[in-house]
Amino acid sequence: MRHIALDANRLNANIKALSAFGANAQGGVSRVAYGDFDRAGRAYVMDLMRVADLDVRIDFAGNIFGRRAGTNATLKPLVFGSHIDSVPDGGNFDGTVGSLSAIEIARSLAESRVRTRHPIEVVVWANEEGGLYGSRALSGQLTVSELDNVAWSGKTIAEGMGFLGGTPSRVNETRRQRGDIAAYIELHIEQGGTLEREALNIGVVEGIVGIRQWEVTVTGFQNHAGTTPMDQRHDAMLSAARFVDMVNRVVRAEPGRQVGTVGRLLAFPGAPNVIPGRVVCTLELRDLDASKIQRLFDGILGEAGRIGDANGTTFEFHSLHENVPAPSDPAIRAIIDDAAKELKLTTRHMPSGAGHDAQAMAQLGPMGMIFIPSIGGVSHSPKEFSMATDIERGARVLMGALLKADTLV
Ligand code: GLV
Ligand code: MN
Ligand code: MN
Repeated sequence: MRHIALDANRLNANIKALSAFGANAQGGVSRVAYGDFDRAGRAYVMDLMRVADLDVRIDFAGNIFGRRAGTNATLKPLVFGSHIDSVPDGGNFDGTVGSLSAIEIARSLAESRVRTRHPIEVVVWANEEGGLYGSRALSGQLTVSELDNVAWSGKTIAEGMGFLGGTPSRVNETRRQRGDIAAYIELHIEQGGTLEREALNIGVVEGIVGIRQWEVTVTGFQNHAGTTPMDQRHDAMLSAARFVDMVNRVVRAEPGRQVGTVGRLLAFPGAPNVIPGRVVCTLELRDLDASKIQRLFDGILGEAGRIGDANGTTFEFHSLHENVPAPSDPAIRAIIDDAAKELKLTTRHMPSGAGHDAQAMAQLGPMGMIFIPSIGGVSHSPKEFSMATDIERGARVLMGALLKADTLV
């Protein structure tokens, strides 16, 4: 394959520059979707896309697309990219590496005057971290009622989409159909420690876990913490504490890689001298098998009922969203593996325990993902780190895979 220059110094400098948008005191970023830093960071990446000679537009869901025509107008686009929104107190590499590598590759191809057969579309998805809202709009998995969910920025999903330049009332029109893309390939940090531990360069993703999240409301009876005897309380916090412990027990009770987390818990009214009358917390379950997630959830529902009955409290579960599990496409996996081997890089095929926009895109066409090592396996933390050399390797594998896909799919 012809050698095409890729400016890794420029790529790593752009990653550093983007980390200024929402930089937090711990050295990471707090660039939650639909916030001011998200919008400012997106303006920065749109400028980079224009410099890379891409036609830039924002779709109805707030996703950014940068497109360049191919030489064969009948072919569907090769789509590649990632996201630049972060979790609260997140790191500088999750999503950013894949997004900026995609733009840098488009720029390299333009500078080297390489025209692909397929159109190329670089995408920066909106609100990946909150639940793949942008990519699920494209794949048709976003439900209208989810537009009222409240994102970390405090805006509803609908308000957030509008804030980024989208049009939430027309979000259905952004939907594409199966077969509308030639392939989707995403480069991402591993977010776990396997590649580093095994001293390997590249992860070839076999499949991405399904994720379901609920908001759980525990209702008891708010009363005076000094005058209400211990045996006469309907303490929502006590039930919530038992719930957290129970979730951990249920999820660990069977073998496998399934995980379950209560990641947020708020007690109301939230005062030292008041027995909480209401607690709102979250439940998240993940596994590669959707039926296992359902089975675990059914078990948790039954146990929650028993916990509630024991002290006169009730549990209500409100589904927030679902990312369905997705295997990657075997042909794209082979293309990624070949691209890595041609660069004399070592590879390992592995599942992804993190969610990715790629799992929504798997509904539309062949999907593949490339992982690079995360130092210490740390992610969703300001301590998240990937080496500049690994980022360069990942970007080169992505470019090689795209050029192979351009001739093969
Ligand atoms: C996304 O990063 C997720 O796995 O939650
Ligand atoms: Mn990510
Ligand atoms: Mn993430």
